[in-house]
Amino acid sequence: MKFEFKKGAWEEAKTQYLVTFVTQSDNKGSKKAESKLNLSKWPAELKNTLIQAEKDGTFHAGKKESIVFRQMTGHPFSHLVVFGLGEKKKTDGESLRVLGSHVYHLLKVNKATSVTIAFDQLLLAGLDADETAQAFCEGFYLSSYSFDELKSKGKEKDDEKKELTSALFVSTTEKNVKSGGKAAQDAMLIGECVFFARRLGDLPGNMMTPTIMGEEITKAAKGTGLKVKVWNKDQIKKEKMTSFLAVAAGSSQEPKFIELEYNGGGKKKPVAFVGKGLTFDSGGISIKPGHGMEEMKYDMCGGAAVLGTMLAIAKLKLKVNAIAFVPATENMPGPAAVKPGDIIYARNGKSIEVNNTDAEGRLILNDALSYASDQKPACIVDAATLTGAIVMALGNIHTGVFTRHDDFWKKIDAALKQSGEMAWRMPLTDFHFEDMKGTYADLSNISSGKGAGSATAAAFLEQFVDKEIPWAHFDIAGTAWSTGGRVHYNPKKGASGVMIRTFVEIAKLMG
Ligand code: BES
Ligand code: ZN
Ligand code: ZN
Repeated sequence: MKFEFKKGAWEEAKTQYLVTFVTQSDNKGSKKAESKLNLSKWPAELKNTLIQAEKDGTFHAGKKESIVFRQMTGHPFSHLVVFGLGEKKKTDGESLRVLGSHVYHLLKVNKATSVTIAFDQLLLAGLDADETAQAFCEGFYLSSYSFDELKSKGKEKDDEKKELTSALFVSTTEKNVKSGGKAAQDAMLIGECVFFARRLGDLPGNMMTPTIMGEEITKAAKGTGLKVKVWNKDQIKKEKMTSFLAVAAGSSQEPKFIELEYNGGGKKKPVAFVGKGLTFDSGGISIKPGHGMEEMKYDMCGGAAVLGTMLAIAKLKLKVNAIAFVPATENMPGPAAVKPGDIIYARNGKSIEVNNTDAEGRLILNDALSYASDQKPACIVDAATLTGAIVMALGNIHTGVFTRHDDFWKKIDAALKQSGEMAWRMPLTDFHFEDMKGTYADLSNISSGKGAGSATAAAFLEQFVDKEIPWAHFDIAGTAWSTGGRVHYNPKKGASGVMIRTFVEIAKLMG
């Protein structure tokens, strides 16, 4: 999907579909107002068409309302689509994202091949040109994802021709064309990186191994200024990441440790990202039940989010420094697999009782977090599909965020407001840590207590982070896939690419 901005009057657009917008006027003080629609800048004939629709009761310009007028003879466009914006004071970035998504879906259902969007009318929603273009285009772009590369092509060939591949925005002011065009470009770049992460998530375990994950980011990073190193098993051993290697021991796939670096901020301390790259989680010897196990191909979505974030930071050429680490492995019950009761050592020397091999995410993130801490970054953010417990607590609406650093949380909160992504701060206290102490070793990988499984997991991870460094853990187990029923611009089924947009905002604030 490409976005283009040009100077022009929308009602003169030569296009198959013309999409325009109307706000509701409050009409206070004039009880007898003929119409509730704000049509001051509309040409007379189109105005009458809409007023007629209002009289018929088919359109009132409320949010989510839309109306299609087909075969508009005597106009340069064939079909006119009008979306309601509701009352302008009730608009924010997220409602524009959702609107962008509705517009995309309507065009798709109608098999549109060319569209012009009335940008000045969209600005009536009340936000400035950058914010409007960025949010609307993000929603529009993110809705255009599909994962069908593994289906045989055939009769779809015909449909391909009918696909919408670009959208043209018109405005009568040069300034709006310029700032809207730049913001739309940024939205597209971020969208591409979210698609990169979604695709990695959607590919099945046999096609998204640690090796392939390393290859995909190496390919994608070419020409972006992002440095990629993919460590093999020997290099991982040299770095003493023995907890990570214990998880990998049951698999025939070689583990990889992916290290990324982006320098755009001179001598500033980097922002560090760490992501769980479990390319398939069978549970290991503590094997998972068969039902739903196929979904564990998504257990690398934290890693994919971190890769997508770094790609986006580089493509946007942000003036920040950022580093990222993704331990990538399978969790399998092979003959050399770690067993319940085994005691292993982590990179930082702590001993860990592995009381359940299915609590493996924390056993690969711990080594990555201690390595990240050693780089002395400005902050560390990790993303992981870590616990089923967070799905119980927050469902698939909110990502759970754990941090003891209140000032850092304020920045994260601001980043979330900007991105529109939903997350909820969860408790993390010494009580949670108490439950993670081992009987025979320093730590156990599962809690000795009942409940709060996501917080105890976070408390375990905390033992591997330098206390001075602001650190936040994002548990995305509930939001990494199949969220589309609630979030319009995410696929109903499949990876969401969650938290990339927020992490980019965090990098802007912290880098
Ligand atoms: N990858 C899973 C967590 C998960 C579960 C993500 C469901 C998404 C949906 C993780 O490795 C795991 O299995 N965690 C266990 C931990 C338990 C054994 C303490 C869990 O949550 O059941
Ligand atoms: Zn597991
Ligand atoms: Zn897992």
